[in-house]
Amino acid sequence: MNIKSLGYIGLGSRDPRAWLAYGTQVLGLMPARAIPGQGWAPDRDRGDPGVGPDGTVYLKMDERQWRLAVHPTDGAADLLYLGLELAGPLEFEAGVAELQAEGIAVRLGTPAEAYARAVTRIAFLHDPSGNALELFYGPTTDYNFASPVAGQRFVAGHLGLGHVNLFVREQARCFDFYTRLLGFRLSDYIRYGPDSALQFLRCNPRHHSLAMVDLGSGNALQHMLLEMANIDDVGRTLDRARQAGVSIVSSLGRHRNDGMLSFYMRSPGGFDVEIGCDGKLLDDTWSPNEFCEGDVWGHDGLVEAVIAAGEAARQRNGAAGQ
Ligand SMILES: [Fe+2]
Repeated sequence: MNIKSLGYIGLGSRDPRAWLAYGTQVLGLMPARAIPGQGWAPDRDRGDPGVGPDGTVYLKMDERQWRLAVHPTDGAADLLYLGLELAGPLEFEAGVAELQAEGIAVRLGTPAEAYARAVTRIAFLHDPSGNALELFYGPTTDYNFASPVAGQRFVAGHLGLGHVNLFVREQARCFDFYTRLLGFRLSDYIRYGPDSALQFLRCNPRHHSLAMVDLGSGNALQHMLLEMANIDDVGRTLDRARQAGVSIVSSLGRHRNDGMLSFYMRSPGGFDVEIGCDGKLLDDTWSPNEFCEGDVWGHDGLVEAVIAAGEAARQRNGAAGQ
């Protein structure tokens, strides 16, 4: 199976409207012009733009109808689902059949479930760590992205919405699942010891769409990256974050492996958001490798933030009996 991209992400929050303010005013995302599952009528009076009748906030970053959904929940889990895009109906049916032949439980979504995500078809499954995944093809493209922040552009499109870094359980099983079954490729990894490594996986030229490490923290979203068009967009986002009182968890820096020039901040969900530019694009000449020294420069505070997030996840997941 060949996943085309990380197409969308679903978060849960006690306060999705906090994400509406943060997403639009700090990140420069646009409220979705129409709510998935309601058909196409963006001019209809629905109350606040980007907010569905159940309080879910939908945000848009490019020509897709939406990329980020924040659903009202009890706040027990930040990450509700990852949407993984397939090329079309043949790839979708072949992919579902491959997974089922491997004994993976896959549930085909109903037309209503696909409509609710603004995609043509959808199937539901879990990775070996318990993360909910949604395979889909045929997203709704409604064009007309215009950031509330004048002139800001995201690097998304065929590269997907960005990347996520996950704390996972049973990393070896996850690695097998994502590479052998879903077709992700290892770009590189950084070792924390003989038995621990953060692995970076790609499904298109973006250096990675998914990174994962088992720190004994159970299942948790550590950070999500959104890539912007240039360093001025990144710097202006840092300015807005500071002005909004958002906690900056790492200084500006450039990662060694994906070349991303970025900073990290705390999101309303408690996990971190990385905002960067200049991310590497890889081709088939690339060889997977171990890399050393995580940063060319900067990113002060990042290692400490990751360790603290792992400990927080361990306590949260332990308290939840996971
Ligand atoms: Fe990252």
